[in-house]
Amino acid sequence: MGENGSGWLPEAMSTVAAEVDALFYFTLYTSTIIFVAVIGAMIYFGIRFRRRDESEVPTPVHEPKWLEMTWIVVPTILVMIVFTWGFKVFIKLHTAPPDSYEITVRAAQWYWEFEYDNGVTSANELYVPVGKAIKLNMSASDVLHSFFVPAFRIKMDVIPNRVTSVWFEATDVGTYQVFCTEYCGTSHAAMLATVHVVTDSEFRQWLATQNQDLPPAELGAQLFNQYTCNVCHVDTAVGPGLTGIFGSERKLSDGTTVIADEDYLLESIVDPGAKLVEGYGLQMPATYGSLTQKQLDGLIAYIKTL
Ligand code: CUA
Repeated sequence: MGENGSGWLPEAMSTVAAEVDALFYFTLYTSTIIFVAVIGAMIYFGIRFRRRDESEVPTPVHEPKWLEMTWIVVPTILVMIVFTWGFKVFIKLHTAPPDSYEITVRAAQWYWEFEYDNGVTSANELYVPVGKAIKLNMSASDVLHSFFVPAFRIKMDVIPNRVTSVWFEATDVGTYQVFCTEYCGTSHAAMLATVHVVTDSEFRQWLATQNQDLPPAELGAQLFNQYTCNVCHVDTAVGPGLTGIFGSERKLSDGTTVIADEDYLLESIVDPGAKLVEGYGLQMPATYGSLTQKQLDGLIAYIKTL
């Protein structure tokens, strides 16, 4: 589990990973051989043919044609190999098998949301069955993000107003780290997710038992955790703290005050800029408007308990 690679590359846990690694190693080793040969020859010649005497005048050297041709032809062949091989792997990485299981991915500051074919959503936790091609259709609601799973050797930009996709087939059950790998603001480094690769039956069971009828405050606590609300509202002072907020009087940046009732909490979640608390700018994205009413009710119920 995790990033237990060779201490060099992360472990290779998808069907394309070995091919990506092979190309990487080919490029690395040929480059290393050429580097050592060129630098070695340079050092050797520097010593062997150094000028030993003021009066020493070197004889001009006209290198033979075959030598010139060799260092044109050999690198050209190497470059063509890398291009052809790289292009083949590139096409494979970008062509999802037609029977792929599709999952919608939404990236936002600063979380990942996954939506499955039956409408179930999860945040920062991606569940997939092992040994099955998974195609991720991804978009962003605010700025550029990038979806990166080192163990699967896949990485793809996630862009507002465009759907990009990436696919993988995990070869082993386990949990694997997802990184956002495009700088996207204050909490970019905390924009992490976990891929849970499980057996097909575990996946079906997980899918069937999600978003079931939890008491509202419990559902809210789950969502609060999944969407990492705590990063801004508990751990840092990016957003106002929420402890004891319900029923309290809020001083707004326009000088007025408001009582933090359910209506205020709801408005602040779906339209964060509507009533800014004094001393805070608009940092919160307006992406939570896509939550269902039930989810919003759950969040409000949970916030009331804080
Ligand atoms: Cu999202 Cu970096």
